[in-house]
Amino acid sequence: MLTQQPDRIGRRKTLGHLAMHYRSREEGPVAAKLLELLGFARVPSPEGYPFYHYVVDGAASNNGDGILFIMEQPQALRELTSVIRENLKVDQPGEHAVIAKVRAAQDSDPEYDLHLGILFNSLEEIEERVVRIRDAGLNDPDLRGRVKIILNRARPGTGEVDERMDQSPLFSGVRRYTYGRNGIQAFVETDIFLTGALGDKFVFELDYVFPGYSDNILTNPAGVSLESEGTTSAQR
Ligand SMILES: [Fe+2]
Repeated sequence: MLTQQPDRIGRRKTLGHLAMHYRSREEGPVAAKLLELLGFARVPSPEGYPFYHYVVDGAASNNGDGILFIMEQPQALRELTSVIRENLKVDQPGEHAVIAKVRAAQDSDPEYDLHLGILFNSLEEIEERVVRIRDAGLNDPDLRGRVKIILNRARPGTGEVDERMDQSPLFSGVRRYTYGRNGIQAFVETDIFLTGALGDKFVFELDYVFPGYSDNILTNPAGVSLESEGTTSAQR
């Protein structure tokens, strides 16, 4: 049983940090601009630090968790990516067949490769941020053509959730759906950050779960039936 002041070494842990790479030194400010639009809070770093330091929640205690470090892709990794791409003839005539397979999988599922999910406690905030990012992807000279928005509307079946979706400026016309229940996913795919074997893009996932539902996109992401285990689903 947990005590009031648990042993922090043995009993408690949180997700600490993720270190990510952007394409080149010149793209640092562009990467920073996107992170700010996504809602990460910049923590000042001493002069000369080779990375930018962000936290998921600027209002939190920031005790070494919820951190995102971003830095220029190191030289050897850049060379590796380039050798892989040359040998597989990525985006060139004679492209290796596996590339089309990977692209098709990524196009149908933005969660196919490594990605980062951020849980918001306000659907309105996600709606506002995504609208702003989408606009920046069209009109901001730094971000034009660099972001793609993919939306998963809440899977139908819960009255108040369906109603909120119909009223949403972002989700009302969307016909992609989450697998799980009672939440939404907004994906921001960008080529400003690099990951995966092809080193060409990264996906941020913005999540919201409607309060009061124990069966939701994060407790039951595949949306399987929980009835047989005696758990009530999507009931309040
Ligand atoms: Fe995900």
